[in-house]
Amino acid sequence: MNTNHSVSQSNKLTYEKTPPHAYLAGASHIKCSWIRSLFCQTSTKIVEDLKLADPQPRILDLGAGEGQVSKIWLELGARLTAVDISENRLKQLKEVCKGYENKLETICSDVFEFLERDLNQRFDLVCAVGFLHHIKDYLALIQKAVSLIKPKGYFFSFEDPLYHKTLDFYSFFLSQCLYYSWRITQGDILGGLYRKMRRVLIGYKDDVYDNTEYHAIRSGVDQESIINLLKNHGFSCSIGYYFSNQSPLLQSLGKKLKIKNYFYIIGKRL
Ligand SMILES: C[S@@+](CC[C@H](N)C(=O)[O-])C[C@H]1O[C@@H](n2cnc3c(N)ncnc32)[C@H](O)[C@@H]1O
Repeated sequence: MNTNHSVSQSNKLTYEKTPPHAYLAGASHIKCSWIRSLFCQTSTKIVEDLKLADPQPRILDLGAGEGQVSKIWLELGARLTAVDISENRLKQLKEVCKGYENKLETICSDVFEFLERDLNQRFDLVCAVGFLHHIKDYLALIQKAVSLIKPKGYFFSFEDPLYHKTLDFYSFFLSQCLYYSWRITQGDILGGLYRKMRRVLIGYKDDVYDNTEYHAIRSGVDQESIINLLKNHGFSCSIGYYFSNQSPLLQSLGKKLKIKNYFYIIGKRL
């Protein structure tokens, strides 16, 4: 049975062996200039607000990855704690964030183990970028993460697939068509087809293929439950919807067709 632990271990195996350039080739929020600038505008607004109280806000970056996103927070003037389960990713992150050593702490750990430690630190912002869909029980994760956020601090998630049940037929159908149009350019077509059929006919397996992008290959991330959870913890929330696809060509087509298949959430503790 897939548990949070087995899903975490699958992520560790996958990210330890995937070279950063292979990850970046499929990371639309980094390589697509439109999504990247949406991320930069949003993160800049959050940091500017936090800087009114502290010129060097403290950020906790969950599932920090290979460093491109973490570097944006550092360039904005924040102090950053980057947590990731993959040692290779953090090694690369330190390379990418060279020059910011005095503002950067890296912690190699499963995010649940990290959040269950007796931390006496509190953060101005906890962010999860391209991360929640990798976590089986992301609501339990957010529940633990919000206890580390200071009053007037933020929870920010970006680049997660919208919950399929909430998509209209047009967005669901077209975003699936565009995803598979990209997928067939990535090789291992028979393997991909076999796994797709197996998932539909038999079900999911407890292996790296079915665990790593856990909710991306299932039914997306339930944005409304995240907002409800944050509101119950005294956060005011806003949500943004956009289109994301790994291919630059299909990305601009999907954007023109006004499809929305991804979201970000900004929660501010009142
Ligand atoms: C899609 S990448 C996102 C990286 C980065 N935030 C970005 O936006 O480019 C997901 C990252 O989460 C990390 N990860 C997955 N499961 C994890 C877990 N349970 N605990 C800590 N990190 C995890 C992976 O190692 C990987 O670096």
